[in-house]
This record gives sequence, structure tokens and C-alpha cells, in this order.
Amino acid sequence: MSQILSMVNYKGGTGKTILSVNIAVSLALLEKKTLLIDCDPAGDAGRLLRVDIEKQLTLFDLIIKKDYSENCNIKTKFDKLDFIASDFNLLTIKKQLSFKPFKERMLRAAIIDFKKDYDYIILDIPPSFGFIVDSAYVASDWLFLPVDLKSQYPDEILFNQVKLISDIKKKFNLYLKIGGVFFTRCDNNNQVKTFSDRNELNAMLFNLFSITIPESDDDFLNRPAALNDLKSKESIAYLKLASELILLLSK
Ligand SMILES: Nc1ncnc2c1ncn2[C@@H]1O[C@H](COP(=O)(O)OP(=O)(O)OP(=O)(O)O)[C@@H](O)[C@H]1O
Ligand SMILES: [Mg+2]
Repeated sequence: MSQILSMVNYKGGTGKTILSVNIAVSLALLEKKTLLIDCDPAGDAGRLLRVDIEKQLTLFDLIIKKDYSENCNIKTKFDKLDFIASDFNLLTIKKQLSFKPFKERMLRAAIIDFKKDYDYIILDIPPSFGFIVDSAYVASDWLFLPVDLKSQYPDEILFNQVKLISDIKKKFNLYLKIGGVFFTRCDNNNQVKTFSDRNELNAMLFNLFSITIPESDDDFLNRPAALNDLKSKESIAYLKLASELILLLSK
């Protein structure tokens, strides 16, 4: 049975999609059967993964039409990685489900059958708040918190996010666990130590991933790092981060 993981941050542009895609690719390269699901109507994960979204099964189809025919592709360029895309239709999903009870559980219900087929399922979720984000929290087993060290108020954003999770847990999903904190756009490990010491993160018993993701140039931001250069510092960092994740979740 796979575990369902989400990168979460209510703040936009903090590296969720780039991390989700690259970690999913890395898990697949490490021979783990992985399913990446784009839950953001903006559809960035599909673009980054370089799939043809027109031909891909979408989350909207899965939830509303329950359409999983063989015409719908879920394959990607990577052998062990499958992908369910998102499109603009997803924005209308709340309206479409308006007469159903327990609407926030529909996403989990739609993907639960995939759990037996994969080692890991990763959800790329939108920023902000609202129905899709709530549904993704209900669907998740584990949440991971990316900290963008180049953003303006990373400390404040992290603590707001932790508070938000504690509220959401009480409201929707008591079993939700925080798996840990990833650091992105990191120039050196002193930055992480300074950040953790300043915020006393160790005392909060957060798992702080030791592997950090470097600040990268455009070549690594518009496709998976592994497709660009498998020997780059980026690809190596994502592969090591994925290994750290596998170890954590196997405990
Ligand atoms: N490792 C990195 N190095 C340099 N820039 C980065 C890195 N990761 C993210 N960025 C920058 O942050 C932007 C946003 O990244 P990404 O789309 O992954 O964030 P997001 O949290 O998914 O955004 P949204 O909340 O809109 O979904 C990228 O377009 C890029 O400019
Ligand atoms: Mg995103």
C-alpha cells in the first residue's frame, strides 16, 4: 500500500511543484512505482513534466466522470512514473459536487484504489486555501513543508503553515502527519542551520531533511532535472532527497 504525500504551502511560488515533480521523478528512477497527481488547476506539473496534457487522464475526469478507460494515458517518459494531469475544469469541481455530502472526501475516494498499485502517490497542490486544498489535505497521509530560503518571510510562512495544518487536522483529517521540512533555493548548509536555530525547529521535533535543493537556473526549472542532466548537482540532490524520504517513510 502506498503512502499519499503532499508538499504544502499556503504561499504561492515556494517551490511545491518543482519539488513534487523532481521528487516523483527521482523516486521512479530509484525503482519505486510512483504516481504524481496534479491537483492545481493551473496545471504546472504537467508542463514541467513535459507530458501532453490533452492526452492525459485528468483529475477532473477521474472525480466527475470516473473515467479511467484505456484511452486515457497516465504514462510518462519515466518507466516507473505515472501522472494524472489537471486542467482548468478542476476549478469548477466544487460546483459540480455541490449536492454531494462530504465533498472534501471525494478526492481521496477517487484515488484510493491507486494506493495498492504504487509505492508512493504524490499530490501537487495549489497554494492558498479553499475546496481543492482542503480535499488534498483529506486525501493525504503525509505533508511535507518546503521552505524557500530566498522568499521574503520564510520563518513566518512556515509557522503560519504549521498552525494551518493543526486547524485542518482537527477539522478534516486527524490522521494527517507532518513528514518534515525541505529546504529549497539553498546556497549552503549554514543557511539551514541558522534558520533552524533561529526558529528552534529541533525543539519542535520536526524532521529536517538533511539534503537541500540548490538555487537553480532556468534549465532546471522548466523540466525535470534528470531530463536536463542526470549528473548535475540538482539531479543528485533530488535523488538523495528521495532516498532520504524513502528511508523516513520505511521506519
Ligand atoms: N530550486 C530553485 N532554484 C531557483 N528558483 C526556484 C527553485 N525552486 C523554485 N524556484 C522559483 O520559484 C518559482 C515557483 O516554483 P514552483 O512553481 O515550484 O512553486 P509553487 O509553490 O508550486 O507555486 P504555486 O504556489 O504557484 O503552485 C519557480 O518558477 C522558480 O522561479
Ligand atoms: Mg505549484
